[in-house]
Amino acid sequence: MLQMAEPAIQAEKSVSQLRCIGCGETALADRFRCEHCRDLLEIIYPGWEERGPGGLDAASLKRLWLDRRTSLASADQSGVWRFREILPGISQQQVITIREGNTPLYALPHCAKSAGMQQLFAKHQGMNPTGSFKDTGMTVAASFARQAGYRWVACASTGNTSASMAAYAARGGLHSLVLIPDGKISWSKLSQSLDYGAITCQLKTDFDGCVRVLNEVVERMPVYLLNSVNPYRVEGQKTAAFELLEQLAWEPPDHIIVPGGNLANSSAIGKALREMKQLGFISRLPKISVVQAEGANPLVRTIRENGGEKLIPVQADTMATAIRIGNPASWKKALRVIRESGGAVEQVSEVEIAMAKAEIGAEGIGCEPASAVTLAGLKKLVQQGFVKPNEMVVLVLTGHSLKDADFTLKFHRGDLFAGTPYESESKSLKPLQRSPLVLEPSVDAVVELLRSAEN
Ligand code: F0G
Repeated sequence: MLQMAEPAIQAEKSVSQLRCIGCGETALADRFRCEHCRDLLEIIYPGWEERGPGGLDAASLKRLWLDRRTSLASADQSGVWRFREILPGISQQQVITIREGNTPLYALPHCAKSAGMQQLFAKHQGMNPTGSFKDTGMTVAASFARQAGYRWVACASTGNTSASMAAYAARGGLHSLVLIPDGKISWSKLSQSLDYGAITCQLKTDFDGCVRVLNEVVERMPVYLLNSVNPYRVEGQKTAAFELLEQLAWEPPDHIIVPGGNLANSSAIGKALREMKQLGFISRLPKISVVQAEGANPLVRTIRENGGEKLIPVQADTMATAIRIGNPASWKKALRVIRESGGAVEQVSEVEIAMAKAEIGAEGIGCEPASAVTLAGLKKLVQQGFVKPNEMVVLVLTGHSLKDADFTLKFHRGDLFAGTPYESESKSLKPLQRSPLVLEPSVDAVVELLRSAEN
């Protein structure tokens, strides 16, 4: 039986405040939408203008955050909480951390060449504890849920949010409920939420349908919603951009390219850069561009067809199941980021995604399909002249290669597009395919193979 305590919500108003992104109202209940205009909420820090985050200036914060990398304290070892001055105030005892963040920035020389760039970098958020960027936001929002007294947390997901939420709930002694679209997420992601002990429901609908059901469930039950409309998640996800700039010695790149699904990550990265500029960490904003799959392209259509006036939802379909989303909640936040940074939106085909994923894999790095849209999109942005070959570009890779091993195996065996409308177009992928070879257990056979591989 579910037993739920009525939570006592206490936001730390001294540090942060909720503000509606639509009407600007700040006197708001701690919910996820404005009670006046129903728009999403964001977190602001009223004290920063006078005192700076934690009462410190940009130079002192840069030093402090770097120093914490040598600390043995668990919050300091987290690549999210070592930036705690720019996060909402959550008491140390309530922090749930699995040492998220501190993810690598890799050079991708071969992908650079394939995109027509002199150099190219990837910030690999798939190198987080549960294998996706979701951990950076989840540590903050799950900690907030625990501090607020909730015993249950829940999310609708295409697989990564649910894996992450289940892990953080388990670490924090919370119960978790997962709603996922039946048959439309990768098995490895589903297995994670089972392994971490979530109650996992496969609903016979898509992601957007799962969101609709969950929104009603949280109205009826004292369950804390951990979807990305939760503004605390966005705060945690901001830290990836702070960390990226730290890795670049606080010299902003020219472009950051992000995959777009529910559009919270692009919003978070944009918010981080806006705050960095406001606080004097950087003097200019990189252009932030969002790439979607052609079959799940509501933001692309919205910008191209009505100039961003009103969201055009779509019936989403793509093999990059993480971003199989037709009605993205955070579209207005993402639109603002693209506009104020001067970024672009682009869409890429299923075959382009598969090719880009294989190219990232062949660098010895790998990522899941949804992350590979960034490289596929970059190629188009270079062809259009929006990105110049000598510019500094960072792709945000959001998920680990092992998140969707099924996709990778089918790709290399040549089965991925069998029986689909993309079958003939997918012939271009042949040179990237490495099907496993079955041989007799003979030394000669292996030596012969090596000889022929050398030629
Ligand atoms: N990449 C991966 C690997 C994802 O899992 C997601 C979203 C995105 C990109 C898109 O990020 O939604 O912030 O625009 N996955 C969500 C989930 C929706 O439920 O795991 P976004």
